[in-house]
Amino acid sequence: MSQVKEILSHYPSNYKQSAVIALLDLAQQQHGGWLPVAAMNKIAQILGVPNIRVYEVATFYSMFNRQKVGKYHLLVCGTTPCMLRGARDIEKALLEHLKVKRNEVTKDGLFSVGEMECMGCCVNAPMIAVADYTKGAEGFTYNYYEDLTPKRVVEIVEMLRRGETPPVGPQDPSRIRSGPSGGNTTLLSDPKPPPFRDLASC
Ligand code: FES
Repeated sequence: MSQVKEILSHYPSNYKQSAVIALLDLAQQQHGGWLPVAAMNKIAQILGVPNIRVYEVATFYSMFNRQKVGKYHLLVCGTTPCMLRGARDIEKALLEHLKVKRNEVTKDGLFSVGEMECMGCCVNAPMIAVADYTKGAEGFTYNYYEDLTPKRVVEIVEMLRRGETPPVGPQDPSRIRSGPSGGNTTLLSDPKPPPFRDLASC
């Protein structure tokens, strides 16, 4: 509740219902990655709004889960750039390796695989986000893994299973600062300086 108070302190008391997303996010992190009806009702009570005002937000945004997810919830980007760069193969590799269907949780409760639309990382497509609920709200992380291959995404899953922290971000060492894989093929030399007048000789 101290975190709830801190969140509410950012809003004027007559607009506290604007904190609904922040409170849903907190409740989801505290509850292992998903929102039961009881949590949404509690948030409605805290905000002094009818329950439906909270349900309509929680069911609109795909980052809120209305059913159980794994301690590591793996979200494969399914929008066009990632799709063109092999998102389906990434998802297939995950589902086959974990022996689950999309949105199913593995028997040990550790992993689930969902889909998300563009996560703003298209330049390094294909990518996944990993929501890590293993450490509660205090240790929650939401990391991106980019430039994936089916082999690499399985390696990342196994590192997570062993409790390791895979390096986040681009997974292709030959890409530097989102440049072309294998290095630049154009603009290989320093650009000519801009022309200027020699003012001293005027
Ligand atoms: S399309 Fe996948 S991050 Fe934008």
